[in-house]
Amino acid sequence: MPAIRPGTKGGVISGWGIALPEKVLTNHELAEMMDTSDEWIVARTGIHERRIGGSTIGLSVESGRQALEMAGLDPSRIDGLVLATTTPDKQWGNAAAVQNELGMRCGAFDVNAACSGFVYALVCGHGLIAMGADRVLVIGTDTLSRITDWDDRGTAPLFADGSGAVVIESVDGPGQLLGWDLDADGSLLSILQAEVGGYIRMEGKEVFRRAVRIMVDSAEKSMAHAGISADDVALIVPHQANVRIIDAACQRLGIPMERAAVVLDKTGNTSSASIPLALADALDNGRVANGDLVLFVGFGGGMTAASCVVRWGGGVDD
Ligand code: ACO
Repeated sequence: MPAIRPGTKGGVISGWGIALPEKVLTNHELAEMMDTSDEWIVARTGIHERRIGGSTIGLSVESGRQALEMAGLDPSRIDGLVLATTTPDKQWGNAAAVQNELGMRCGAFDVNAACSGFVYALVCGHGLIAMGADRVLVIGTDTLSRITDWDDRGTAPLFADGSGAVVIESVDGPGQLLGWDLDADGSLLSILQAEVGGYIRMEGKEVFRRAVRIMVDSAEKSMAHAGISADDVALIVPHQANVRIIDAACQRLGIPMERAAVVLDKTGNTSSASIPLALADALDNGRVANGDLVLFVGFGGGMTAASCVVRWGGGVDD
């Protein structure tokens, strides 16, 4: 293991990648499978279509490989792999399987914090850097279609499959991460859950109400930790569950919707993958400049919430 040197090194994101299954499932196709309509789904959620298929390990390998290529790193140089997923292919060892397929030899572990998982993993990755690791691969992947009850029109239109990854590299000084918050309220577990081997069960209205509150609370804590205000945020990258939840959270935070990264119209809710998918889309479309403050905020079953503030850019100390 690398030596512990707390406080001397920070991390910056130096590469990213995504993976989406080829199969597109549109609202119109869903309406042929169950009693719903494109109009209802778009009006209530903002989702037009989603991607279905693939395995958690397979999608993770694809997004991870892209992120490593963009960072220009040989896999052997990675010191740690954190895989956020709430739909593992196997009871354990999912990150290890990805590590092996990518040709890496490093610590590799799974994190399950439902849809907050990617931000939990990102904060863990920065923690590893602070403790001496130089290069960490953070992946968020979910294949929710496997635990979706396709006979339940209350949940089936929402969930989908995908993966997103980032490489964090160490730099001298504090790095990108300015503030963070990880939260959970286990008293709310019953409003959104899935038994092992079972389907997602959800009290939609209650999840909506709580989600807005817990997201706003976590985001405000991260901004306070970073010493910034909502006006300073150039881009908010929220969990992609429902555009109305994003809209309500942005309104309460005082961040205009134009500053939100939104991809759920094409991806649906991909849980651990939703934030890195939205981040990659914003980056690929030139929406983030060096020096911009980016606020990540997720919420999910548990209920969990997680947020962090990063200042984009910074040179990689190789
Ligand atoms: N198509 C057509 N009608 C439907 C559908 C559908 N797919 N689903 C429900 N309806 C009907 C209901 O039966 C109800 O009819 P009624 O008035 O005759 O009883 C009506 O539409 C309204 O239903 P509601 O459930 O009250 O609709 P709501 O406006 O609350 O929207 C939704 C439902 C979209 C699920 C919303 O509550 C929501 O987004 N909640 C949050 C969900 C969420 O974010 N979950 C993910 C959390 S992240 C994670 O960890 C996985």
